[in-house]
Amino acid sequence: MATLTLNPALDMTVRADGWQPNTVNSGQDMHLSAGGKGVNVASILADWGVTVTATGLLGAENAGSFETLFRAKHIQDAFIRVPGSTRVGVKIVDHAKQETTDINLPGLGATPELLKALEAQLDELTASHEVFVLAGSLPPGIESNYYARLVAKLRAAGKFVALDTSGPALTAVLNADTLPNLVKPNNHELSAALGRELSSEQDLLDAARTLLTRGADLVAVSQGEEGALLVTRDETVKARPPRVPVVSTVGAGDAMVAGLVAAHLDGLPLPAAARRATSFSVGTITRLGAHLPPRAELDAIAAQVDVSVLKTSDRLTV
Ligand SMILES: Nc1ncnc2c1ncn2[C@@H]1O[C@H](COP(=O)(O)OP(=O)(O)OP(=O)(O)O)[C@@H](O)[C@H]1O
Ligand SMILES: [Mg+2]
Repeated sequence: MATLTLNPALDMTVRADGWQPNTVNSGQDMHLSAGGKGVNVASILADWGVTVTATGLLGAENAGSFETLFRAKHIQDAFIRVPGSTRVGVKIVDHAKQETTDINLPGLGATPELLKALEAQLDELTASHEVFVLAGSLPPGIESNYYARLVAKLRAAGKFVALDTSGPALTAVLNADTLPNLVKPNNHELSAALGRELSSEQDLLDAARTLLTRGADLVAVSQGEEGALLVTRDETVKARPPRVPVVSTVGAGDAMVAGLVAAHLDGLPLPAAARRATSFSVGTITRLGAHLPPRAELDAIAAQVDVSVLKTSDRLTV
């Protein structure tokens, strides 16, 4: 399977206890981590043992952390190298005061030449891959209907397509003629994309079912610590995570996408898919970065996920 990340990010976390602006400060340590939604999905699926190819646009000047991650996890690196640097997110953490300051730097813009190279790469990957995950925001220079067009192209080629994005890119996909097989917005993203408030579970179900009637096969609406609603044409499932000590919620949604794709690859029924996806999310938030815990720990978490199948009268009829 392949993941596409058009706007990856390099996260730099600097620990500087007691730091003050406008002075010279000492830091304790610095950590670089390769991120971006599709990179996270690839990282988690690789931990699970899936053969993964990762593509997208990557700044040539600071690609090292990404290359290290890909090598360590045997992820096939199909990223197009772009002159310049991938956008960096700086996090200054003060453990003493329990404060975090974020500085997000702008990323690379896409040019017509880069988009051409990317298209050629995607055509090549389409010939050799069956499952595609399109994840994350679009960088400057790429039109908001980019994913919508790519979804149509991949599905016309018979591929399974999963999408996790937000804002105008998600709106464009949800309004297009061809929907992805799997969409995983969180409740806020879905509400923003549809331009209406989704305040109750019934509202979320109705919204999900509209997308199913328009061609999606599985709509997973995640709701943070509340869990997630997973809806297909035949079934509706609610998955509630156990309470866990949260280390970092970064990648919770990406892990859910990875879990749903892993479930698809194994042909799991919806309740089992919901359990697996939620265990991936919960496992990821109990550690730093987008990595799965060891298998035994993951199995223990999965056993604690509360999965309920909503009653037949709630089923969709189309
Ligand atoms: N605080 C938490 N405690 C337990 N589980 C959580 C918590 N936050 C998230 N999860 C789990 O992770 C899943 C996905 O989380 P969430 O809805 O926050 O995704 P997201 O908003 O897409 O996140 P991301 O920032 O990765 O895009 C939830 O359905 C839930 O199972
Ligand atoms: Mg998300």
